Amino acid sequence: MVYILKSILEGEVQISGAKNAFFPAVGAGIALGAKKIVIRNVPKVRDIQVMLEIISKIGGEYSVRDDNEVSIYMEKITPERIDQETFSKIRGGVVIFGAVLSRIGRSYIPFPGGCKIGKRPIDQHIKAARELGFSVEESPEGVKAYGEIKNKKISFDIKTVTGTENAILMSLKSKNLIEIENHAKEPEVRELMKYLEKHGVRFLETEDKLFIDPRNVETPDEVEFELIPDRIEAGTFLIGTAATGGNTKIKNVNPEHLKIVIEKLQEAGARIKIGKDEIEIEGEKEYDPLYVIADSYPDFPTDLQPQLTVMLLKSKGKSVIEERVFPERTNHVYELRKMGADIEISGNKIIIYPSRLKGGTFVEAKDLRSTASLVIAGLIADGEPTLIKNFEIIERGYERFLEKIRKLGANIQRDSFFISQLTM
Ligand code: EPZ
Repeated sequence: MVYILKSILEGEVQISGAKNAFFPAVGAGIALGAKKIVIRNVPKVRDIQVMLEIISKIGGEYSVRDDNEVSIYMEKITPERIDQETFSKIRGGVVIFGAVLSRIGRSYIPFPGGCKIGKRPIDQHIKAARELGFSVEESPEGVKAYGEIKNKKISFDIKTVTGTENAILMSLKSKNLIEIENHAKEPEVRELMKYLEKHGVRFLETEDKLFIDPRNVETPDEVEFELIPDRIEAGTFLIGTAATGGNTKIKNVNPEHLKIVIEKLQEAGARIKIGKDEIEIEGEKEYDPLYVIADSYPDFPTDLQPQLTVMLLKSKGKSVIEERVFPERTNHVYELRKMGADIEISGNKIIIYPSRLKGGTFVEAKDLRSTASLVIAGLIADGEPTLIKNFEIIERGYERFLEKIRKLGANIQRDSFFISQLTM
């Protein structure tokens, strides 16, 4: 539980490593057969801790250093030992499926979890394994795969980030070129390709096809990877600054990964200066309305849709965000309405009208990105503090969030003192 008072974000913030690049990095190390996997710039967040628990359940060991370097030691892997309860805490563990299948010729995972933003099925992951020629058996508990690669082509019905990561990982033992149609192009998927290119795998990418040549893949005893900066953490601070009319420098980012986000913030009226690995943003009191499509990369990231929804409450007219990845990603809307937000949901469109938020309200966080959205709402709400229940969810994906946002001037406290002051 935290309470937040109206604040303006100003100053500098250092972005941590991307948690969603950690899962494919682990997957690459496992699939390549490495006994030691060293990964740098790993954020200390709960989802990473759960992934390490999953690793130890299937037979691995690990150590985490203060300087955000994680070492994982994998000898014998027993995928059947992973339990549903641990596995379903996060979505990222799903890459174990393809990685272990490549490493030992068989694999098992319980059905994965992740944020409550829609069903989160894995039918496309199963389709990919079957299209490659593996035998795949589904049970109420989970999915088992075994056998060999007999075919050369996978085609996805929809773009799926971890589905594409799994398809790449399960292809590595092929004796032929593999073609993946309708692959996801998120930076974290590109990073997996870079990790594997370091070890002999070749990729060729066209508009809607990814070709993999794993015929010269190495089997290193040890691999070392470094995670890219977290573009969603960076985007959250950019949008939070814009919403509060502040002025911040976001350091240690890759502006290329935030191209559409920067374009949309500039279109709304924020002033942005782009450096090699930093972005400076100066917000406004109010913004020009936007029409934004949240879709697979390079479109606007769905993981920043809840945060942008709040900022657009400050636009001069009606804005629309079309949510094409997770149409059910509206937990934040119901909470924002409690604070006075005038937002309509029509199909997969979130329609946002200019409205002021009022504090002194008790809102509830339901998933990682809607928690970030409620924090931004608390920073712009008038009057009394805003209380966020289940704020702790933020620790799943944002490293040292409270420390970073307080350093930017946010008045956000865990203290329960203020609760007694609230007129409920
Ligand atoms: C990844 O999830 C990210 N997680 C998510 O970030 C992110 O929101 C999402 O990609 C979209 O960008 C990780 O990388 C660990 P999808 P993923 O498969 O791979 C449907 C966060 O906050 N689908 O790209 O699970 C699915 O329901 C998290 O860090 C199927 O129907 O997402 C969704 O509607 C939240 N069948 C769409 O595809 C499948 O087999 C895209 O999902 C797989 C997916």
